[in-house]
Amino acid sequence: MRSAAKTDHKDPTGTLLRPLPVRKLALIGAGKIGEALLSSMLGAQLISVSRVVATDADPPRADYIGEKYGVKALTDNRQAVAGADLVMLSVKPQQVREVLREIRKCLPKNSLVISVAASVTTALIEGELDRGHRVIRVMPNTPCLIRQGMTAICRGKHATQEDLKIAQAIFSAMGRTVVVDERHMDAITGLSASGPAYVYMIIESLAEGGVKLGLPRELSTELSAQTLLGASALVLHTGEHPAKLKDVVTTPAGCTIDGLLELEEGGLRVTLIKAVVRAAERARELVESHNS
Ligand SMILES: NC(=O)c1ccc[n+]([C@@H]2O[C@H](COP(=O)([O-])OP(=O)(O)OC[C@H]3O[C@@H](n4cnc5c(N)ncnc54)[C@H](OP(=O)(O)O)[C@@H]3O)[C@@H](O)[C@H]2O)c1
Repeated sequence: MRSAAKTDHKDPTGTLLRPLPVRKLALIGAGKIGEALLSSMLGAQLISVSRVVATDADPPRADYIGEKYGVKALTDNRQAVAGADLVMLSVKPQQVREVLREIRKCLPKNSLVISVAASVTTALIEGELDRGHRVIRVMPNTPCLIRQGMTAICRGKHATQEDLKIAQAIFSAMGRTVVVDERHMDAITGLSASGPAYVYMIIESLAEGGVKLGLPRELSTELSAQTLLGASALVLHTGEHPAKLKDVVTTPAGCTIDGLLELEEGGLRVTLIKAVVRAAERARELVESHNS
């Protein structure tokens, strides 16, 4: 058995994390995001191994999770949620309703439910549970896998300020968090949840530019990815408007202004704006289909 990687008690912004006031956590759906959640919560010592029960539909997967993290791992969701004061749902959106119907009779009335399922509203979860449960919905992104994520958090109608703090502590162990109103979740899906895919395309394209100019592909990709990482960090670190930081790079009659002209002619800004808007529209369509 391998224990979870040890980390310090701080999230990436330096905030001190404390052990969560949770007696039993049931993590339902230990897939990619579920495992990342488990790993970061244990690594940040937000909860001890003995307080966690994880489930997966696939018995070998459950065995793997139990073996790797030392938590109790089952395929029985009802058994997992019995006595749990925190339930985290990380199954696929189309599986949420079925799981809620399965667990609702065994779920303690005072438990907090945190769902990471995209496009599944707090109202749907509350409606399926129908016992005044406190529900929080979150939208993480894949950089959470390396503690560089961006997670938006919103609360349902019964969730409290303390519940939000618990969700913030959990997702701060995976990167940054913001608390938002649920009406913003589709826009957030189109921006920060889908966003890594847009950024990978940008990284790839910049690297192709380097390749076109004769740079080896590996070097080109490293230059490109670190440039995005560094530029992003500068925006967050300084709090400056990106346009101001862009102006600092752009000397009169220099090279950068020529590059920027190409980007403007190619419609980069409009294309990215439209990508976010279109993905958010699709998120809204999925909300309608998952919640009808
Ligand atoms: N990946 C992302 O970037 C991302 C970002 C934001 C939000 N999310 C949300 O996170 C959730 C999980 O996504 P994921 O990428 O981690 O998917 P995933 O890897 O497919 O994980 C879902 C896991 O749940 C298991 N499962 C299915 N039915 C179950 C049941 N009845 N009881 C217990 N476990 C069950 C699946 O097992 P089987 O494989 O055996 O079916 C699978 O291991 C989704 O709702 C998604 O919308 C994901």
